[in-house]
Amino acid sequence: MKILVLASGGDAPGMNRFMWEIYRKFRNDVYFAFAGFTGLVNGQIFPLSEVIDKKKRNSAGVVTKSSRCPEFKHAKYFNMGLENAKKFDVVVILGGNGSEKGAKRLFESGVNTIFVPGTIDNDVEDCHYSIGFSTAVKEAVYTVENTMPSIDAFLNACLFEVMGRENSSICEEVARQVDADYQVVDEKTLDYEKMKNVILKKYIASSSAKIIVRENIANITEIASKLNDMLGMNIVKTQIVGRTQRGGKPTRQELSMATKFAKETVRCIKTKVFGVRVLADENLNIIVTEFK
Ligand code: F6P
Repeated sequence: MKILVLASGGDAPGMNRFMWEIYRKFRNDVYFAFAGFTGLVNGQIFPLSEVIDKKKRNSAGVVTKSSRCPEFKHAKYFNMGLENAKKFDVVVILGGNGSEKGAKRLFESGVNTIFVPGTIDNDVEDCHYSIGFSTAVKEAVYTVENTMPSIDAFLNACLFEVMGRENSSICEEVARQVDADYQVVDEKTLDYEKMKNVILKKYIASSSAKIIVRENIANITEIASKLNDMLGMNIVKTQIVGRTQRGGKPTRQELSMATKFAKETVRCIKTKVFGVRVLADENLNIIVTEFK
């Protein structure tokens, strides 16, 4: 059986473990498309054995490389990718909700695909956990916890920007774990009056507010500047957590979930269950569903 794996979109900690587990079962039958759909379109397809490395199985990043490939939406490039995908008995696609659409379209065009959620954003529909999420949260919590003592020493307040392009899962979970004073998850919660009051209340109590802000809502420096103007004091600082969330060392939960996703993918391949999404339910049990 010829198996193709690819990682698409933002890399996510735990992807290497997933790749390793697939390789461990099928060895030289496994190939990869370099940098995801980009390599699929361009025919950059190689044996996984060329890049897989047991020593990297618990590291962040992804040995196959990943990329965003907006061209894949266009018929010309999609068809180029389709031709290459058809050379395989099964194509395993690891990515977020955009990659899922690509996997579904390939399946509808006659390719045996299996989609697996790999994105820190945790934005895959019907799925309660995607590979990368717990590490992304852990890194952001670490940043908040290691920044606040210094913020507190000056009786300042701090806005922390976390990733999550169109999804507030990371923001909400980080806010919960650090016991944030306020969270900005969307335009509605970007409420300056509320933020000002939260900051002021803490300040009067000789304490410091921590506010978690989801990226892509507004420029965090501008939010801070507006708050400082409203407060009439220069006490609101900012910290962008950024790509440490994707580059962080995978948590135990990450490695365990990546292994579970891989085991189920192996089972699907062996039993020839294709055109499916391997997801996690609310109890984090792995389930297999058809594309929607
Ligand atoms: O992959 C998800 C993600 O990390 C989002 O949270 C973020 O908006 C985006 O990728 C950043 O993408 P890039 O690294 O390509 O700028």
